[in-house]
Amino acid sequence: MDLYEYQAKELFAAHGVPVLPGRTVETADDAAAAAAEIGGTVVVKAQVKTGGRGKAGGVKLAETPDEAREKAGAILGMDIKGHTVHRVLVTEASDIAEEYYFSFLLDRSNRTFLAMASAEGGMEIEQLAVERPEALAKVPVDPIAGVDRAKADEIVAQAKLPAEVADEAARVIVELWEAFVAEDATLVEVNPLVRDPQDRIIALDGKVTLDDNAVFRQPAHADLVDQRTEDPLEAKAKAKDLNYVKLDGEVGVIGNGAGLVMSTLDVVAYAGERHGGVKPANFLDIGGGASAEVMAAGLDIILGDPAVKSVFVNVFGGITACDAVANGIVEALKMLGDNATKPLVVRLDGNNVEEGRRILQEANHPLVTQVGTMDDAADKAAELAAAGA
Ligand SMILES: Nc1ncnc2c1ncn2[C@@H]1O[C@H](COP(=O)(O)OP(=O)(O)O)[C@@H](O)[C@H]1O
Ligand SMILES: [Mg+2]
Repeated sequence: MDLYEYQAKELFAAHGVPVLPGRTVETADDAAAAAAEIGGTVVVKAQVKTGGRGKAGGVKLAETPDEAREKAGAILGMDIKGHTVHRVLVTEASDIAEEYYFSFLLDRSNRTFLAMASAEGGMEIEQLAVERPEALAKVPVDPIAGVDRAKADEIVAQAKLPAEVADEAARVIVELWEAFVAEDATLVEVNPLVRDPQDRIIALDGKVTLDDNAVFRQPAHADLVDQRTEDPLEAKAKAKDLNYVKLDGEVGVIGNGAGLVMSTLDVVAYAGERHGGVKPANFLDIGGGASAEVMAAGLDIILGDPAVKSVFVNVFGGITACDAVANGIVEALKMLGDNATKPLVVRLDGNNVEEGRRILQEANHPLVTQVGTMDDAADKAAELAAAGA
């Protein structure tokens, strides 16, 4: 899960990283009140989960509360790279002497963590990495050893941060590492990390990605989820512990095993080209133990998507054999009753496939069509989706 800037900076502050005081508001009048409370010149900043807000006109200085109201009025409702602005952060304006770049991230290809730092912050890091790679220090961080003061000094030296702020920067880097570890983040990025005229180091922007696999041990992170922008079907699936991702097509997909579901998306997309361009409507992996309850929960979510016109159930029987899955489908359709309204194409293969197919045959449900192979089943599901569209 990605955090908003204001959430990222609240986490930073909790770990001792210097940030400027601010308030997050949803109306222009509240922005004026926040500016009056903070006093002096403020910055009004769009809160959307994408970078480049400054360039898009989503970060504005305001010298008075009235000006803050006016700037917030213009920013609220703005569209930044497809994200609508519902909130703005009103925060103290900083005098900026220099802008630096800093991040910790999970470097998957090298199976380690990485610190990236540069004395040339502010500009987009992708651009810096391409145009002036020598200006961007990349320092691997051993996950066991972590970042102590000596390691932070090494990062500061490689990034060539000025001597006057080296101490302070190293202290902040250790705190950012503590935040990174304690919060189970896969990314902590500060761009810009600024030096003010008094040589203080301040995190002026913040981007944090939290590792969703660590949710079980981070109960406080549940409060960081933004219900407004969460897809309702994904939220419902999450509540039922289902691995579901909404896509924008018409063929609902259920399968067991992430690899099988991924390849099912491919064959459906491919088959869809022969049927007016229909596409998969979702990713849903119901995992190994496909009980009737799990199958019913999965079907319920997929049938709740108004864009879905047909459903492809693609199961390879393994530890949970095909007969159990077939019984699961039959039971699930019973549980759903009148809520099951769209045609289902079922392809069973693997362990105990004969018995599985017989069970579905016998149940003879009017919505269910059995097809023997994955390609043919994808074709049938795409055809039904095109006919129902
Ligand atoms: N509190 C602040 N005081 C002064 N300038 C700011 C402040 N916050 C942001 N800025 C300026 O606006 C630029 C863009 O803001 P930033 O928060 O980095 O948004 P984004 O990265 O989405 O463009 C910063 O590089 C900085 O120059
Ligand atoms: Mg930034």
